Amino acid sequence: MANQPSRETAGRIGARRAAGDAVVVTGAGGGIGLAIVGRLLGDGWAVVATDVDQAGLERVRRAVAGERSLHLSAMNVAERTSVTATAAALRADGLRVAGLVNVAGLLQDVFPLFSMDDVLQRRIWDVNYFGAVTCTQVFGSVMADGLGGAIVNITSINELRPLPLHAYAPTKVALGALTVLSAGELGPKGVRVNAVAPGFTLTPIMEDKIRTGKRDVTTLRANAAMGRLVETGEIASVVSFLLSDDASAVTGVSIPVDAGWLATSHWMNFRDLGQGPE
Ligand SMILES: NC(=O)c1ccc[n+]([C@@H]2O[C@H](COP(=O)([O-])OP(=O)(O)OC[C@H]3O[C@@H](n4cnc5c(N)ncnc54)[C@H](O)[C@@H]3O)[C@@H](O)[C@H]2O)c1
Repeated sequence: MANQPSRETAGRIGARRAAGDAVVVTGAGGGIGLAIVGRLLGDGWAVVATDVDQAGLERVRRAVAGERSLHLSAMNVAERTSVTATAAALRADGLRVAGLVNVAGLLQDVFPLFSMDDVLQRRIWDVNYFGAVTCTQVFGSVMADGLGGAIVNITSINELRPLPLHAYAPTKVALGALTVLSAGELGPKGVRVNAVAPGFTLTPIMEDKIRTGKRDVTTLRANAAMGRLVETGEIASVVSFLLSDDASAVTGVSIPVDAGWLATSHWMNFRDLGQGPE
């Protein structure tokens, strides 16, 4: 060990960052993806916003109109050929991938275990887990062969406490495991891998669940230590930190951004809580 060269600069991108260094964001057209794209452009990154949904890409274009550092690309994370084609196109355009944010995900409605639909379940795994695996392989190998970089996986509070979402929750537990495993393997190659685990976040899809009565906003708020839901920008700011050199020695961790839901949601079991001293 004593003869090994110092690796103190491993994990730092900033000193080697140049114009054209880019972060690839998957699922960029959704609520959380859009906030991350906006934040990373503000941080000075070139951003490659990708989504399978053309309407989502249009949303990104409208939201950050005129940004010269924004590149849009249709990409289906569940299709390896689509991911490798995007990587080849970026190389041809002279963009060096220094970061990846795996946001693309499918949510689900609640249904009992015994009526779980095989096709739906596999579709969710294909996007939430295997999509992230494919993107980590394809873009992670670009980083590992080049200047290093950082990957952030968007998991969920389901990674840390599975909720009754029998298809979705296990994909997020697995994505947490992928985070740790890929951090271990890519660390020596100068690539950090971390996760952000959002709690109930005010995206259009969550607002729809609240509007249609599938989630009760009063209960969600009451169960969180901070008495509120999470804003998309609050997810984006932690992603920004994990991609930056401020996190240069942080790898293999999941950071919950949940307004304290994991801390206190189980306190409802203590009926005498809050009644003060007797
Ligand atoms: N909203 C929340 O409360 C919440 C909480 C925890 C975790 N998350 C996670 O955050 C991420 C984003 O969630 P959101 O609320 O913004 O949802 P969203 O539905 O608005 O965004 C998801 C995006 O992924 C894209 N996508 C779906 N399949 C794809 C594929 N095969 N290839 C490429 N893109 C694909 C969709 O087109 C969409 O733009 C998801 O991974 C979700 O599991 C969300």
